Amino acid sequence: MARTLTFKIFRYNPFDENSVPKMQEYKLDETPRLNLYSALYRIKDELDPTLMFDFVCRAGICGSCGMTINGRPTLACRTLTKDLPDVIELHPLPFFKMLGDLSVDTGIWFREMAQSVESWIHTEKEFDPTAEEERMDNKIANDIYENERCIECGCCLAGCATAQVYTDFLGATGLNRIGRFMIDPRDKRTQEEWFELVSTDEGVFGCIGMMGCDDVCPKDLPLLEVFAYVRRKMMVSLTAK
Ligand code: SF4
Ligand code: SF4
Ligand code: FES
Repeated sequence: MARTLTFKIFRYNPFDENSVPKMQEYKLDETPRLNLYSALYRIKDELDPTLMFDFVCRAGICGSCGMTINGRPTLACRTLTKDLPDVIELHPLPFFKMLGDLSVDTGIWFREMAQSVESWIHTEKEFDPTAEEERMDNKIANDIYENERCIECGCCLAGCATAQVYTDFLGATGLNRIGRFMIDPRDKRTQEEWFELVSTDEGVFGCIGMMGCDDVCPKDLPLLEVFAYVRRKMMVSLTAK
């Protein structure tokens, strides 16, 4: 027999001065292979058109549907209701600027992070659009690809104790971004420059290593290896000083 699901959803509009944060309840009959994307759209279409949440790709690619589902930050579009209990509590991801209900602005934070870690290849080499594409060792290309799989959903920051206290903390995704450029032989930043970038409270010193980020990353990025690599690189910089 089909279950009746109870959704308890956080409601708050920070742009409405009369809005007060509260949990609102909705009931929905479960259908086969129902995911949270479809469930939330059914609630919006059939019960409450004012409900705010974000989805773009519905395929675990764009990273926009991150939310806290029964206490765990994850992607709503990849979550099937059959894997959840009868009562489903939804909150917006903590850490990010709230836009309303389940919708947060991850873009501002990710743009600032990209600027602060100078998320581009640092090279003196002039770009020649007519030149043949530069070849790269397969292993290095694969390692870079692994880092590049981050979809900027923000779940790792939502699951990170340090990030809740220090909003400037780069978190797993920021350290992963740094790691991506450290691996890249085209990036000519010096050991000293890498050291300056990561040896801060916002960088590796802020990370307490409990790996909450690793537990919740919906793309299963090899964060443990990324941290080890960044730390190793920092130690090399330190000994070279
Ligand atoms: S290991 Fe812990 S402190 Fe470090 S980034 Fe991951 S969740 Fe945050
Ligand atoms: S590291 Fe994982 S959890 Fe963090 S933003 Fe990237 S994909 Fe999301
Ligand atoms: S809607 Fe794009 S990752 Fe979920």
